[in-house]
Amino acid sequence: MNQNIESHLIENRVFKPAKSFAKRARISSPAEYEELYKASIRNPEKFWAGEAKELLWHKRWKTVLDWKPPFAKWFVGGTLNASENCLDRHLDSPRKNKAAIIWEGEPGDQRVLTYHQLHREVCRFSNVLKRNGLKKGDRVIVYMPLIPEAVIAMLACARIGAVHSVVFGGFSAEAIRDRVNDCGATMIITADGGYRRGAIIPLKQNVDHALQGGNAKSVGRVIVFRRAHNEIHIEEGRDVWWHREMEYVDANCPPEEFDSEHPLFILYTSGSTGKPKGILHTTGGYLTGVSATSKYIFDLRDDDIYWCTADVGWITGHSYLVYGPLANGATTVMYEGAPNWPEPDRFWKIIAQFGVTILYTAPTAIRAFIKWGNEYPARHDLSTLRLLGTVGEPINPEAWMWYHKVIGGGRCPIVDTWWQTETGAIMISPLPGATPCKPGTATRPFFGIDAVVVDEAGHECDVDEGGKLVIRKPWPSMLRTIYGDKERFKKQYWSDFKSQGWYTTGDGARRDKDGNFWIVGRIDDVLNVAGHRLGTSEIESALVSHEAVAEAAVVGRPDEIKGQAVVAFVTLKEGQEGSPTLRKALCSQISHAIGPIARPEEKDIRFAEALPKTRSGKIMRRLLKEIASGTEVRGDTTTLEDFSILTRLRHMDE
Ligand code: PRX
Repeated sequence: MNQNIESHLIENRVFKPAKSFAKRARISSPAEYEELYKASIRNPEKFWAGEAKELLWHKRWKTVLDWKPPFAKWFVGGTLNASENCLDRHLDSPRKNKAAIIWEGEPGDQRVLTYHQLHREVCRFSNVLKRNGLKKGDRVIVYMPLIPEAVIAMLACARIGAVHSVVFGGFSAEAIRDRVNDCGATMIITADGGYRRGAIIPLKQNVDHALQGGNAKSVGRVIVFRRAHNEIHIEEGRDVWWHREMEYVDANCPPEEFDSEHPLFILYTSGSTGKPKGILHTTGGYLTGVSATSKYIFDLRDDDIYWCTADVGWITGHSYLVYGPLANGATTVMYEGAPNWPEPDRFWKIIAQFGVTILYTAPTAIRAFIKWGNEYPARHDLSTLRLLGTVGEPINPEAWMWYHKVIGGGRCPIVDTWWQTETGAIMISPLPGATPCKPGTATRPFFGIDAVVVDEAGHECDVDEGGKLVIRKPWPSMLRTIYGDKERFKKQYWSDFKSQGWYTTGDGARRDKDGNFWIVGRIDDVLNVAGHRLGTSEIESALVSHEAVAEAAVVGRPDEIKGQAVVAFVTLKEGQEGSPTLRKALCSQISHAIGPIARPEEKDIRFAEALPKTRSGKIMRRLLKEIASGTEVRGDTTTLEDFSILTRLRHMDE
């Protein structure tokens, strides 16, 4: 790669964990991490078995790992119950009466469920599921707002061995239908509605549409929780009310034991092609992975108030709102609504009100907060925070610094956690008491994770040389397959380095001289401009470091001479206006931060009012690429946050 790029990519600011934090952390120095990491890579099975022992097993496993690439079985012969591990296990201790869930609804209603209460509700709802004919191995769609009942539904499924597939409440009827048909779900658990920016999302109505006209035939039962009190249709013989059903059951539901490899859940995620794929996770390995990472990476303590802002519809919600924290007996905060409702200070208000100590959120949210202005966090006391986390995309150093200074008051370590739906648990992240951080890098692999950056031939890349991020050894929380499609599973993740049995992440990355991993982004988002590889996120980072810029998305367009050219869609901060001078300045900024080869033509800086995003907050790059290339917008755009943005983007330069 071009020397110019390299020299500009190096981030030199290093933030060491504060001594006070390190002193009480589980891993408290870089040397301790190095030593344990090396040992864990020499013998991953030993490390993971040690972590698995912390869980409650009915039968101890006979073999830690049975690995026939690409198929893994972890803790073979062991039996356990995930719900028992998240609930019953804490009842014989002072945790019994501690808050398991602190919940805030968007309109301002609040609930606290202690471990005792959550256990009771889960047991009762498990009996409801059984009463309604659900059995071990059956698939259930959970389509709920972010309310405690979503967690209750998930844990009740786990308790009786049913396989949940949570569908994010922002997805459409068609998405529900596709998922039902793909996994053959026999039941849907939903609510009448949920709140978002003051409006009611008609969840039950979407379910009705998904099932209408004999579609999604496998579904025989719909259980409806009353949340929003909006008017809904109840289909006789198919739909039942949650609260009515709960009247018929008692709270006695002993946990059954399930094989370690019993499926726990299916979660659908988008690939670069085709329809979303059902990522299958199983019980023992998944729980080991999320429990261990929660403990070490979030440094969870009994007095923490931990808040992961993700929805349970995403893997982050599964692993770090539900299973990881509850397996550790933590107190977890849930908030139903939008971060800027009714005002852009809602998050900070919640933090102050509940005394949140750990906050785990996404860079996209952080960038929105920056845009809204510092006055909103300044209104509230954020001094309870002791640790911050990010996930989902590369965090640009400016956002990192803002998070560090404005939210963390300069005292909180930031764990930039890299992982995927497929990996189940965090794979690369600082350990907050041990790892020196540089803004923008997820730093080092977690124990037992053999992550490397390799070239096409599988040779490890040099320092600062970009390549494919691969995982060379299996890990317990890895996906087991794509539900119903083993061939796609093999092809998608295991065909690049088939003979070695390595997992391809689909991400590009580089390692710096200190061994830190810098995730460039999806390989499909890496541009090749005149033979030079450019990470779109690096260009975006350069752009947002300009004072006028709020957010930027960079994609490639075909170019006759260079192969590809850089196109930058840019939104500006309040009070800023797009102009030819600003275009020039931004081009220079890119040139300055990365190198002249990344410099776009001025016409390719395109000012936009907002960037098109999926409801999970990801920038829709495919769409931008098509707009940038001047081709028609095709395919499924139903996940757009705001349809009007599409039109505006297409016409903005006219
Ligand atoms: O490209 C990486 C990016 O998000 C992808 C995984 O997306 P998903 O399965 O939806 O899971 C998101 C939450 C775990 C990855 O392939 N990604 C995730 N975390 C980071 C990241 N990119 C850079 N830095 C991260 N910390």
